[in-house]
Amino acid sequence: MWNERFAGEEYVYGTEPNDFLKENKALFDTPETPQKILCVGEGEGRNAVFLAQMGNQVWALDYAQSGLEKTRKLAALRQTEVHTIHADLTMHELPEAEYDAVIMIFCHLPSVNRPFLYQQIRKTLKPDGVLLAELYTPDQLEYRTGGPANPDMLVTAEELAQAFASYSILESRECVREIHEGQLHTGKGAVAQFIARKA
Ligand SMILES: C[S@@+](CC[C@H](N)C(=O)[O-])C[C@H]1O[C@@H](n2cnc3c(N)ncnc32)[C@H](O)[C@@H]1O
Repeated sequence: MWNERFAGEEYVYGTEPNDFLKENKALFDTPETPQKILCVGEGEGRNAVFLAQMGNQVWALDYAQSGLEKTRKLAALRQTEVHTIHADLTMHELPEAEYDAVIMIFCHLPSVNRPFLYQQIRKTLKPDGVLLAELYTPDQLEYRTGGPANPDMLVTAEELAQAFASYSILESRECVREIHEGQLHTGKGAVAQFIARKA
């Protein structure tokens, strides 16, 4: 589905970064010590390119080849570089203590697959590494302005807080906000916003 969705010329989630990431850009804007950052389920690369433009070394992981191609294209257009990883997050093992940060924006997996992904994120973050996530919650079913229609794919802040209970939680909340991020996110949306640092 995603490969076809990203096949056209247009960037379906736009080329500007996610709002929650942009609001928290200070965490990743460290030009004197560039960070190694992994963006999971990164689609067409808008967040990865934003982070790379700050001087970070960024990897975009997705199972949609067409999204990864558009990621490289957007990076070239913005005169930066993003490394791409073609992999399925339901089974891909991430390397141990590899990244300073993991970014997970609207990357929705079935509930049966999420514990494995959380485990991989915990493994691949270095000590002091940061996870930043924004995901649609079950309340999004009332709004229908984007995200999966299947409740099993939706995520609560409580689930994230439990999966990263050993971390220092910097932000964990659910809210409804205006989301205008490309043609597929268009209006009020119910989201979990989560930032945690590995102890
Ligand atoms: C809603 S899009 C979000 C894209 C991007 N994070 C953004 O904010 O623009 C969800 C992305 O997750 C990817 N994805 C979903 N399931 C995946 C899986 N099992 N393995 C890798 N990528 C996956 C899709 O291919 C798609 O690019």
